[in-house]
Amino acid sequence: MARITAGLTTSHVPAIGASIDHGRTQEPYWQPLFAGYDWTKQWAAADPPDVVILVYNDHASAFTPEFVPTFALGCGDEFPPADEGYGPRPVPVVQGDPDLAAHLAQSLILDEFDLTLLYKLEVDHGLTVPLSLVYGQPEAWPTRVIPLAVNVVQYPPPTGHRCYMLGKAIRRAVHSYPEDLSVQVWGTGGMSHQLQGPRAGFINSKFDISFIDRLVTDPDALAQIPHLEYVREAGSEGIELVMQLIMRGAMGPEVKELHRHYHVPGSNTAIGHLVVQPLDILGQEAG
Ligand code: DHB
Ligand code: FE
Repeated sequence: MARITAGLTTSHVPAIGASIDHGRTQEPYWQPLFAGYDWTKQWAAADPPDVVILVYNDHASAFTPEFVPTFALGCGDEFPPADEGYGPRPVPVVQGDPDLAAHLAQSLILDEFDLTLLYKLEVDHGLTVPLSLVYGQPEAWPTRVIPLAVNVVQYPPPTGHRCYMLGKAIRRAVHSYPEDLSVQVWGTGGMSHQLQGPRAGFINSKFDISFIDRLVTDPDALAQIPHLEYVREAGSEGIELVMQLIMRGAMGPEVKELHRHYHVPGSNTAIGHLVVQPLDILGQEAG
């Protein structure tokens, strides 16, 4: 049976990708941001999962304002990096897992989450920056990746609660897959940031840290936050945080926090990062 072995959240700021790609991670501006991922890189290199279900949003790279799926699952064999205006990032092509993706599609749709299915998809910084932060600059990514794109760009995005419920459905879907696979779920995006309008540059560290705390210990209450509260407290693009609730829903009721990192600034945003393990997995290890 496939198992969910860990979950992770991270911001996915495009300038982080540019910093890595241009060898600038040790400059004074960037060094403290990247230092918070050192623990994660070691942990990730020691035991890469077979598959990562990577929750992210497309930033008008693969989708356009004429085509806005709320939840879209990457069911293809591979996903090349998108050209976001400066040429595609020099990162490996992402290898998918069409068999597990087909199973997820069937299980989730029969569980009444009506996903859009994507058989051809170019992936932007929302997906490739988290991979770079965790796995560095390898010749090939060490795991297969199933992209799960969420609309947080064009109103109306899904609620945090809907995302949390989708995470729980992903957990049921993975646990009903007969192959013996280790699967991680990553929720990317956030923390507080606003890229537009009079409040451009807005950051709210108090809200961000409370969000990370509640993601670990009180996700049921966190899932009740309405859209307007995200916009007010975390800025217009802070709505990306709902994607982290998909990760948390997939972990089951209780998690152990393994690592966290919070740093301001990273480009126009606060950087937040968390690694957790579901308690049932820890129980299996202990037994
Ligand atoms: C920026 C872009 C993002 O997509 C994001 O999630 C955070 C920051 C930026 O352009 O700074
Ligand atoms: Fe983003």
